[in-house]
Amino acid sequence: MDAMDTIFVTHGAAGAVPIWFVTEASYPDVRKVIGSEACAFADAAGFDPKPGRHLLLPGGKEQGAVLGGVLFGLEAADEPKDLFLPGRLPQHLPDGVYRFANAPHDARLAALAFALGTYRFTRYRKAEARAIKLDLPQSVDRDDVQRIVEGVTLARDLINTPANDMGPAQLEQAARKLAARHSATINAIVGEELENNFPLIHAVGRAAAGAPRLIDMSWGDAKHPRVTLVGKGVCFDTGGLDIKPDTGMLNMKKDMGGAATALALAHMIMARGLKLRLRVLIPAVENSIAGSSFRPRDIYTSRKGITVEIGNTDAEGRLILADALTLADEDKPELIADFATLTGAARVALGPDVPAFFTDDDALAGELAEHGTSENDPLWRLPLWRPYEAMLESKVADINNVGGSQGGAITAALFMRRFVTAKSWLHLDLFAWTATAKAGRPEGGECQAARALYALLAARYG
Ligand code: BES
Ligand code: MN
Ligand code: ZN
Repeated sequence: MDAMDTIFVTHGAAGAVPIWFVTEASYPDVRKVIGSEACAFADAAGFDPKPGRHLLLPGGKEQGAVLGGVLFGLEAADEPKDLFLPGRLPQHLPDGVYRFANAPHDARLAALAFALGTYRFTRYRKAEARAIKLDLPQSVDRDDVQRIVEGVTLARDLINTPANDMGPAQLEQAARKLAARHSATINAIVGEELENNFPLIHAVGRAAAGAPRLIDMSWGDAKHPRVTLVGKGVCFDTGGLDIKPDTGMLNMKKDMGGAATALALAHMIMARGLKLRLRVLIPAVENSIAGSSFRPRDIYTSRKGITVEIGNTDAEGRLILADALTLADEDKPELIADFATLTGAARVALGPDVPAFFTDDDALAGELAEHGTSENDPLWRLPLWRPYEAMLESKVADINNVGGSQGGAITAALFMRRFVTAKSWLHLDLFAWTATAKAGRPEGGECQAARALYALLAARYG
């Protein structure tokens, strides 16, 4: 993520190629504007104004051999299913400078998707250099879209980087780099130093070659309202002694997706200069197998003093988050939000693209759902259904770290709730991954829920 890396160019760039958005309904009107030669060409090429279709138009004779424009099909205006559809454009376009000739359904989201659609993970294999630029519509706040693109790009890069180059120490380095960029303060408690005050983080992370740690970053005026973000930073999740099968383990480099998301959101907040006091807590570990691994039926006393019986070492995320949430809770922030690739059950319930969120704060839930919709960053609320706490009962300790075979996303959330007293606690259970490329969402690591929460925070603390 380089600050200078932007695909947006100053408004009014000369010679920008016009992109005409068309629907079945609007195509006849657009035809009247693009001229008879372009229409004849579109007809000869068999262009159909269906969602996702595109056509490159030749320039007129007087322009010489240049691109005259681009037609791009959108979904009907009354119910567009994917406001990110313009995110498909970059892959179809030759290098050049483009502009929106008419309004897509949502110009800001279209520009954002366009930029996010150019993302590629190039750390290990250089991709051919592309030079696609977008002359943003005047209505769009370029700086804000740029901040969001930078945040999402940071999260994707962190998630896509494999565990051999993104262990707890490298995750700390990434957080330090971000902190330095925004003049935030940052500390980390590492290895054996965790044992007394963060016993669960230590227990989960102690078997790995890369020492576990708790990363603690702070930014902003201490007099502003406090907002604390917590991100699950499991740099690789083997499952521990309750080892995952090969298919389940394959993508577990992404198990620090919550941490990546928290850092992405932190970047957006700090770059915008929101009037809040930000704290970011990242318990960073690798859930590894060794003689020193924590075991099923081990019992640990958490930072909060709650004794936890280990029912399954693969339910490690909630353990490290429990100690981090306890710390987050201690200075009584106005809002605590945690992000975690926590359960397969949340994915069974809602699929890969819709993170589940949990909160007892109904006003917060309503706001978040609204921003999720308007940012095209979908989320869905699941209940903190108290009676299911019975599933977490242990016969020998205060609580077990796993519930039964059903309602696994809810029992995971209820487990963590025991460590928080703040009413405004928001827990997000997300996938952090796009398995097959979608418009504006290339295959690989994905930043989910950060844009929705950023919009919420910007509305509250802007
Ligand atoms: N990191 C996984 C959850 C996960 C798996 C998220 C795949 C997204 C995709 C987590 O640590 C885990 O293993 N959870 C277990 C909990 C179970 C043992 C109670 C799960 O969901 O199966
Ligand atoms: Mn696990
Ligand atoms: Zn995990």
